[in-house]
Amino acid sequence: MIYYFSGTGNSLYVARHLADALGEKLCPMALSRPLGTDLEGPVGLVFPVYGWGIPNVVEKFVSKQLVPLLDGKQEELPFLYAVMTCGDDMGYTDRVLEKALGRQVDAAFSVLMPDVYVCLPGFDVDSKEECREKFEKEKVAVPEIAACVKEQRRVRLLKRGPFPWTKTYILRPLFNRFLVTDKYFKVDASKCISCGRCSKMCPVGNILIENDVPRWQSHCAGCLACYHACPYHAINFGKMTQTKGQYNIMEQIYE
Ligand SMILES: Cc1cc2nc3c(=O)[nH]c(=O)nc-3n(C[C@H](O)[C@H](O)[C@H](O)COP(=O)(O)O)c2cc1C
Repeated sequence: MIYYFSGTGNSLYVARHLADALGEKLCPMALSRPLGTDLEGPVGLVFPVYGWGIPNVVEKFVSKQLVPLLDGKQEELPFLYAVMTCGDDMGYTDRVLEKALGRQVDAAFSVLMPDVYVCLPGFDVDSKEECREKFEKEKVAVPEIAACVKEQRRVRLLKRGPFPWTKTYILRPLFNRFLVTDKYFKVDASKCISCGRCSKMCPVGNILIENDVPRWQSHCAGCLACYHACPYHAINFGKMTQTKGQYNIMEQIYE
């Protein structure tokens, strides 16, 4: 089984490739119903890196759903692996995951995918060319990951980037505290056409359409799916994103 979380589609894209290569099933982490008790075969976790760590959805899934299942398992534990998609570098995201799990994963991989983070100065979406290159590399990386999983190889193929400790253990807590919030989302009423796409694309059901405008419900995953999905760039995160690009995975795949 492959459990995944994805805000803007990259991790789902990777998870689907991996599931095809391994003949595995996919299950969303954001699913509200509890998991079954079946943990046969390898268990994969596929998700994006947020602020050099794991998204809050992944943390919740791991601690509330996966850990109790693993703890209750009488027989040998299944092969456990993580595939983390990131735009640039992942710091010690694997260690953050392992802390939440209370155990080590057997294998861990990072896959470079188009960057969707736009909320700070200097951060923007990748150019079309950069996206194309990343998708080309993904085509090679996923079969390699699948081969490692099939052979149950205990490997770590990770792009930690420079200063991983500082990023994960100093910057990440600040990032989570001040920037993983929906309170800065603003809608430009002159651009919003009340299509409801932001609400439909939110992977955690955090957006309700009230009086024809989106209202965030304070349980945001911070994934920016709403920002990127808006067809008229009517949604912004404060003032910082007004001049930033939007990412649409479908455009990248099919162009
Ligand atoms: C809130 C947020 C934080 C991010 N932090 C990082 C990061 O620390 N390092 C990185 O390389 N990419 C980072 N990214 C980029 C994503 O990890 C990357 O684009 C990922 O593939 C998105 O996956 P998804 O489309 O499945 O949501 C961040 C994106 C978001 C939305």
